[in-house]
Amino acid sequence: MSKRQSDVVKSMPSSEIRKIFNAANQMTDVMHLEIGDPDFATPPHVIEAAHRAAREGHTHYTATSGMPEVREAIAMKFRRDNGIDCESSNCIMTVGAVGALLCACMAVLNPGDEVIVTDPYWSNYSGQIAMAGARIVSVPLRGSLDFAPDLDELESKITPRTRMILYNSPNNPCGSVLPKEVLIGIGEIALKHDLIVVADEVYEKIIYDGHTHFSLASVPEFKDHVITVNSCSKTYAMTGWRAGFATGPAHIIQAMTKVQEANSSCISSVVQKAALAALTGPEDYVRSMVDTYRRRRDMIVESLAKIPGIETVKPKGAFYVFPNIEAYGMSSFDFAIRLLREARVAVVHGAGFGQYGEGHIRISFSAADDVIAEALRRLEGFVKSL
Ligand SMILES: Cc1ncc(COP(=O)(O)O)c(C=O)c1O
Repeated sequence: MSKRQSDVVKSMPSSEIRKIFNAANQMTDVMHLEIGDPDFATPPHVIEAAHRAAREGHTHYTATSGMPEVREAIAMKFRRDNGIDCESSNCIMTVGAVGALLCACMAVLNPGDEVIVTDPYWSNYSGQIAMAGARIVSVPLRGSLDFAPDLDELESKITPRTRMILYNSPNNPCGSVLPKEVLIGIGEIALKHDLIVVADEVYEKIIYDGHTHFSLASVPEFKDHVITVNSCSKTYAMTGWRAGFATGPAHIIQAMTKVQEANSSCISSVVQKAALAALTGPEDYVRSMVDTYRRRRDMIVESLAKIPGIETVKPKGAFYVFPNIEAYGMSSFDFAIRLLREARVAVVHGAGFGQYGEGHIRISFSAADDVIAEALRRLEGFVKSL
């Protein structure tokens, strides 16, 4: 039988994170710091809401964009937390933020289009943009600029084929939180060149030291150009539930709904009810998780500072540290794979997050304290052995 695959699939890069994850899973005694999956349990009131939904018969297909009350809750969340003036008709529930991002790409991009992406970036963007037949044009996030883009450089990348700007703040993998003035600058560029901005805000509540998250769509003049993507995954420790959502201009949300209809008909009815409970429930749980992440971040940053040759920018948000390891004179992949093989610590090579990630490794602190402490001890020993 012919083993033919579509050209689209062939153009989609495989996940570099999975490369490390798969290699690590073949080994024993590995300290796993490669995956961004909170080690906390989903809050009990969310689990109870899912149980209740199933018991009460919420077990049928729903509207493609989500149950009316769930879309109301999403709109309420965007108004309450983000200052985005939106209605439930501008909101969609999706299969995780990843589903919202893919729907946005398929709804907006044509083959041959270009998407300006701040680089390093979450590696799934490349597959999604490739699926739409479009191409990534990278704008670097440099450690020297606190991992923010240079706006003149960003604007210089615009061509007649540019259709979208995609950024993520707080950022995976860099841990940066883009300042309001930089985001306003991105909005002005989008307006000037009539581009769509996709704001990936999944880490919005995981933020430290008084830094604040700003949603570009809260500015009325930019609102019609911005698709805001978020999810319950990181905020409420709900990665396995696949509960994402987005808001944006009505015609784009309609187009995203069409894509979702072809792809999944609707989101699991039980998960929709769980998301409703998460979005409308208490937030003290979130604050206590963030306190734990802050403590872990400080422990990692302090330990890395004692290792000669490793340069670290202290993360302002998300749960990743992205130290520079160029001093060791090897590629980030070689460093990560040797660290895995020789010290049994799994981290991701920076090159897995785009061309500007080279020279770094990503260490996730969504793992338990004892795992992080042991990984740091092994990392120090590994570096001494080089
Ligand atoms: C930047 C970024 N965006 C989106 C996602 C996907 O989130 P979800 O679990 O809601 O699909 C992730 C997951 O790691 C992420 O890091």
